[in-house]
Amino acid sequence: MNSKVTVLGAGLMGHGIAQVAAQVGGYEVSLLDVKQEFLDRGLTMIKGSLAKFVAKGTLTQSEAYAALARIHPTLNLKEAVRGSDLVIEAASEDPKLKLDLFKNVSDLVEGDVVLASNTSSISITLLGGATEHPESVCGMHFFNPPQLMPLVEIVKGRKTSEETVQFVKETSKKMGKETVLCKKDSPGFIVNRILVPALNEAIFLVQEEVADPEDIDKALKLGLNWPMGPLRLLDYVGLDTTLNITQVFINEFQDSKYRPPPLLREMVRAGLLGRKSGKGFYDWSGEGPRKG
Ligand SMILES: NC(=O)c1ccc[n+]([C@@H]2O[C@H](COP(=O)([O-])OP(=O)(O)OC[C@H]3O[C@@H](n4cnc5c(N)ncnc54)[C@H](O)[C@@H]3O)[C@@H](O)[C@H]2O)c1
Repeated sequence: MNSKVTVLGAGLMGHGIAQVAAQVGGYEVSLLDVKQEFLDRGLTMIKGSLAKFVAKGTLTQSEAYAALARIHPTLNLKEAVRGSDLVIEAASEDPKLKLDLFKNVSDLVEGDVVLASNTSSISITLLGGATEHPESVCGMHFFNPPQLMPLVEIVKGRKTSEETVQFVKETSKKMGKETVLCKKDSPGFIVNRILVPALNEAIFLVQEEVADPEDIDKALKLGLNWPMGPLRLLDYVGLDTTLNITQVFINEFQDSKYRPPPLLREMVRAGLLGRKSGKGFYDWSGEGPRKG
């Protein structure tokens, strides 16, 4: 079994994945980003999250220090991947950037090193095609925040080998995660394929003035036991991100059932992106969400 994992990108997802690998998996972790300030921000988030586990009593202070000591930040790709058996790419969702990164990593590592991507929408087969060994390339899709969400979707590209899938499955398990296998490299994998049309449908209900956002959220919470209503969830995910995923679905499936609601486009154009912009379906300018 491997003992070193590399995480590329120290952003929202990357810092969390690095933390889980070090804290739960016990791996030595190299964490790469393109600027020192991004690494510093990632490490600050990791320290904050570890402190919360300690405060809750689920981690001791010495375990938290030990986990932090296993995370090695770097700006140098060659150094980041040296001696790793698994590279998890969690860089920005930009196809060209990811293709370049996969090619560069592939040039630096042996063919049996597994290159996994946390991408939400970019084809694993396409990423594999940028490397010397597409059989070692796999999707490893975590959920936000990776420290708390128990699922990893494993995504098989056209040429991904069974050994690679098995290896990612075992590593995910060691990191305390449950896995599901997406046997085909299909847009949205499992969770987003179901979730995004449901979120869009909630927006259609607002647009058609069938119900107010608060009632739609209340209905799904109490009627389906969702932990959070769809419109509040949209505000957390970001309306722009949701629109981007919808565009990928439309382009890939060529099926109008994935059409984005005009209200979604309008809100994105108006800068009403949800929590990050202060307003979406709710008003986030105060302490918590208020009626928008
Ligand atoms: N945000 C989510 O809820 C979520 C959930 C699941 C998967 N994802 C996927 O995870 C990936 C990262 O998303 P995020 O939300 O963490 O984005 P983010 O913008 O918070 O972080 C991306 C990080 O990658 C860094 N980066 C850019 N180019 C790089 C390079 N060449 N090498 C190393 N680092 C580089 C950026 O500087 C940034 O710190 C995306 O593929 C996204 O689709 C996101």
